[in-house]
Amino acid sequence: MSELRRDLSSLAELATPIPPAKRAVIAAAPGGKSALSAGKAIAGLFQGLAGDRPIDSDMITHSSQEVLADVSAIGGERWLDTVREHHEGTFQHCLLVAGVAATYATRNGLNPYIAASLVNAALLHDVGKASIPQQILDKPGKLTESEFAVIKRHPRLGYDYLKSHAELPEAVLDAVLHHHEALDGSGYPDGLTADRIAPLTRILTVCDVFAANVEQRSYKSAQPASSAVMALVDMALRSRVDYEAVRRLASAFDVPLPGTLEELAASLSQPIRARAG
Ligand SMILES: [Fe+2]
Ligand SMILES: [Fe+2]
Repeated sequence: MSELRRDLSSLAELATPIPPAKRAVIAAAPGGKSALSAGKAIAGLFQGLAGDRPIDSDMITHSSQEVLADVSAIGGERWLDTVREHHEGTFQHCLLVAGVAATYATRNGLNPYIAASLVNAALLHDVGKASIPQQILDKPGKLTESEFAVIKRHPRLGYDYLKSHAELPEAVLDAVLHHHEALDGSGYPDGLTADRIAPLTRILTVCDVFAANVEQRSYKSAQPASSAVMALVDMALRSRVDYEAVRRLASAFDVPLPGTLEELAASLSQPIRARAG
């Protein structure tokens, strides 16, 4: 970790306590209390990695349960709106992935242990970014090859930190390490192919991509859920992500998709065939 410059500006931003007046506004918003609690847990994680300090695992577990309960009660879309309105940058992204994961879990009736593992993994997944310079993380537009090489270190940096500072289930650690792998082997850090990418990891990957698309940034506006689903459909057709996970996530956000990838491909090719005919 020491070979990377720790980003003091982003950590300072995370370490700055939210002023009481703003806290009160967030707490009063739909799902605001769990968003505040999860935000505090993520801030603690990022500061922990930067300072090589232990992790408060209980706080992560507790926050995951609160997010699951709020998303179940008010719906994922409203929870995501609250986060988009009140949080920024990497911080917003981690919270959005947790909210998307909680929506996936609650709307698909995952068993409580798997649901908790998925939301835990979502909160933890990008902690390695605490070591990546903020100007690279927030750069609008295309990254240079060397900037991308730096970004690609974050899954392993996060995994190494979590493995040595907390007792976490292997499936959660695996999801953190491999959330940027692709089924066709084109992902990173290990270039794993489909047979070696675990189910929980595949779900986290689609939640991560979906959240990145519905994120609100200074240089881009948030896409609606239907567009975020179409980006995932495109990735599934190119053998990057698991279609079953995409279909279940889409249905959690009320975007129905065909039951199999073959049916999807056939439905997309129909208008082309009709035109050709
Ligand atoms: Fe990531
Ligand atoms: Fe991410």
